[in-house]
Amino acid sequence: MTLEEYHSLHKTPVPGGYLYTKAGARGLADPAYELLAQHLEPHGQKALDLNPGIGMASYALRQHGLQVQAIETSRASLRCLEASFGATVEVSRGLPWETEPDSTDLVVLVLPANRGTRYVELSLLGAARALRMGGRLWIAGSRDKGFEHYFRLAQELLGFGLLVKRDGPLRVAVLEKEKPAPELPAVWQSFACDLQGQTLHFAYLPGVFSGGHIDPGSAMLLRELPDQPGHVLDIGGGYGALSRPLVGRALSLTLLEDDWPSVLSARQNLGEKATVLHSDVDEALTPSQTFTTIVTNPPFHVGGLVVLETAIAFIEAAYARLERGGKFYLVANRFLPYEPLLEARFATVHTLAVDSHKVLLAHKSD
Ligand SMILES: C[S@@+](CC[C@H](N)C(=O)[O-])C[C@H]1O[C@@H](n2cnc3c(N)ncnc32)[C@H](O)[C@@H]1O
Repeated sequence: MTLEEYHSLHKTPVPGGYLYTKAGARGLADPAYELLAQHLEPHGQKALDLNPGIGMASYALRQHGLQVQAIETSRASLRCLEASFGATVEVSRGLPWETEPDSTDLVVLVLPANRGTRYVELSLLGAARALRMGGRLWIAGSRDKGFEHYFRLAQELLGFGLLVKRDGPLRVAVLEKEKPAPELPAVWQSFACDLQGQTLHFAYLPGVFSGGHIDPGSAMLLRELPDQPGHVLDIGGGYGALSRPLVGRALSLTLLEDDWPSVLSARQNLGEKATVLHSDVDEALTPSQTFTTIVTNPPFHVGGLVVLETAIAFIEAAYARLERGGKFYLVANRFLPYEPLLEARFATVHTLAVDSHKVLLAHKSD
């Protein structure tokens, strides 16, 4: 897949029309979205979609004549939503718990179970707080990913709840707000760790990759980096685990990240010392920007599904964004077949370390 193909939008048919999709967007191929869109019923006038993905539930709500606001964290999904809805849905980047209290009649939420319990709990709290008294929350998810637990939690927050649909492991339920929602608790968390002789402190928001500890693969990659890496690009930088130790060693640091809570976390950890961009792969860079060293620990899950297309786009972007003679460091699970992809592009490819993960170094020719 070329970068151009990765970034292109495709029309996907939905009952009564189509939505735009693209590689890397959340909510693609997740049947919970479809089931929720089929079964939700209108209530009141204003609706809020707190995990829209490519917008299937928002689309159904529009068809029911409701005024819809969709809050999304993924840059790739935001692109799809903006293309599909134009001005007909108020699409905004944001955190699902930062909702305006008592502002809406209906909330829809496909449970973001793959983002961890704390993230789902806060999303439910955001939904409960946004609803007016008597407003309704529709949730969808899988029994295999904690649906029963989250349904009980939603009942504790709101009140009456009814299971509307079972389809294999998938569930859809509706709840009614019968009591005031609790205040939002403190959401930021932090941890300290020793990396290459220094103690570093990291802050992070719920839902980010490897919150609370440095991923063992990322720690392996850090051990292989040169003392003076020059101008560095960190693709899929998360909360800054790879970039933070390079502060003071790199001539400049640029971090690209698709996920908004991760972007906010990286900005908190890197401050003025790096440029942190909300970016689907390299789309937020200007066409001429190139770097001496590129580092990545690429994702291979999107919304809980194993997909390599985003990782392939990371490799394509790394090749395009490296200066001549530049170096690309990639860490991955041992079973992932990145070597042939790198060899197809780069002049040389070496395995620098193998343990729980493998660290690969690819050179761009001079
Ligand atoms: C395996 S994590 C690594 C995070 C961080 N570099 C570390 O080492 O802890 C992969 C990161 O890629 C981000 N990501 C996923 N898809 C992306 C995309 N299309 N563009 C940019 N970043 C993306 C994820 O949100 C996640 O933070």
